[in-house]
Amino acid sequence: MSSHPPPRKHVNIHELRRMKEAGERIAMVTAYDATAARLVAAAGVDAVLVGDSLGMAVQGHESTLPVTLDQMVYHSAMVRRGLARGDGRAHLVADMSFGSYQASADEAVKAAMRLVAEGGAEAVKLEGGAEFGDVIRRIVRAGVPVMGHIGLTPQSVHKMGGYVVQGKDSEKAQQILRDARALEAAGCYALVLECIPSELARIVTSQLRIPTIGIGAGPHCDGQVLVLNDLLGLDASFTPKFVKRFGELGAAVEGAVGAYVGEVKARAFPDDAHSFHSASVRLVPVERHAEEAEEEPPDAIGAPI
Ligand code: KIV
Repeated sequence: MSSHPPPRKHVNIHELRRMKEAGERIAMVTAYDATAARLVAAAGVDAVLVGDSLGMAVQGHESTLPVTLDQMVYHSAMVRRGLARGDGRAHLVADMSFGSYQASADEAVKAAMRLVAEGGAEAVKLEGGAEFGDVIRRIVRAGVPVMGHIGLTPQSVHKMGGYVVQGKDSEKAQQILRDARALEAAGCYALVLECIPSELARIVTSQLRIPTIGIGAGPHCDGQVLVLNDLLGLDASFTPKFVKRFGELGAAVEGAVGAYVGEVKARAFPDDAHSFHSASVRLVPVERHAEEAEEEPPDAIGAPI
């Protein structure tokens, strides 16, 4: 009898719906490259998002707005390769970049198809409410599942006037609920709720059949998503209320690289254990140029034979 555990079931859009119905929480996290994808998959996440937050987390921009579709495709393909090295269980979603879906449904369909065909994504995520119903219908009709994203939508930072909690008064909360219903009706298979009061997220979650995935939206969503850099504590100076640091990798990286620098300076690294040897290589004397001859001779003068 084989001692191998049975292969774990791939999380697809139907499995996510089943998880909501069964009351099983969905754990999603961002990843932007193959190494991160391999690690988060091994840690057991249900879904991986190649978020356009890579504009800040990887590229050093102030917002997600400069991220291009080509870059999203490039990072998605890396993440797909990283996931392929694991058990293949995690669901892969890629963000549609700013400008890739707002101008026309035709462009949106083409962009979504590139993320799937070239980037290896199984689904795309786009930001916006009921006004994107037609675009979503077109993408879904083309065979690409769409995850919606409402509440704080970072691509609309200038319209919102900053990264501020949304839906705090009754009128705006009603609008978010209407948007959520419209996105479900348009064919979204899941919905990200970002930075809204947890009371509102609870109502939205209870009124939808599709799973909600919260970030800064409290504990009542069907799942949670965090930016990997934030949960790892890569930047200790970034401390929004909704982020919990599950590690202090920023400090760990500084410590490790600092130790490396110290050993290089002290000539302690590389030591013998980290060096190669060959018995058939020895040094033979070489002629030194006149100007070199005036300098202090190095420890060994020669050429390998
Ligand atoms: O880009 C991103 O990482 C996101 C998540 C914060 C939901 O959209």
